[in-house]
Amino acid sequence: MNEAAGRRYSKVAMALHWLLAIGVIAQWRLAVAGENAPSDEAGSAIMANHFSLGIVVMLVALARLAWRLVRPNPPLAADLAAWERWLAKVTHTLFYVLLIGMPLAGWYAMSKYGTGVDVFGLFALPALPVATDPEGAGDVFGFHAAAGIALLVLAAIHVLGALKHTLIDRDGNLFRMLPFGTPKA
Ligand code: HEM
Ligand code: HEM
Repeated sequence: MNEAAGRRYSKVAMALHWLLAIGVIAQWRLAVAGENAPSDEAGSAIMANHFSLGIVVMLVALARLAWRLVRPNPPLAADLAAWERWLAKVTHTLFYVLLIGMPLAGWYAMSKYGTGVDVFGLFALPALPVATDPEGAGDVFGFHAAAGIALLVLAAIHVLGALKHTLIDRDGNLFRMLPFGTPKA
């Protein structure tokens, strides 16, 4: 069908993409809820979920990249301007850098506190063999939070791009990532 015509992502790629999108939004809302929690206990419980889901998001991003080797992405729409092509590629690449780099930074920072990362009680990443350094851990988390803001800015650019193409240019861009509708370009 359309997938065969080369305009649409594979079903597996779509599923992983939407899981990542939901995961990123959930991570953002959890971090904000953790910061504004009424008590330290409530904050820790919320952040434990943020840590766990963060590792899951990283694993899904790695699975998405692995799947790309099995089924390469369809080429970007042929009628995109050079700057649009560039912006899409930079945004997509930075997404993966952040989706893998941010959890790794979190794991590294936790290790500086001397603990690993428990993932929903199912398994735990062990503390990395680094010297205990709570101050350094705080710095890494500060960097992680800044990266989180960058990720949200990228997501806003990404969504505005998809909506501009779908609603204004009417090129069916969004349907490249959905199992229905018609991608045109
Ligand atoms: C914030 C979370 C999101 C992340 C991290 C994300 C990430 C990505 C990445 C990395 C790609 C490149 C293809 C791939 O490697 O799978 C992509 C493509 C795409 N995304 Fe997202 N996405 C997010 C949210 C959204 C949302 C909310 C929409 C809908 C408005 C959307 C619509 C699309 C579309 C239509 C494509 C296909 C672009 C094309 O090849 O023409 N994404 N996304
Ligand atoms: C891809 C996965 C992850 C995403 C998208 C993500 C995203 C975010 C965002 C958006 C913030 C809030 C920034 C702000 O409002 O200031 C944040 C804060 C935080 N995250 Fe993550 N995170 C991820 C994984 C992790 C992991 C795996 C850990 C720990 C093991 C972690 C630990 C923290 C901590 C401690 C904060 C509070 C930092 C501070 O305010 O100093 N995150 N994260």
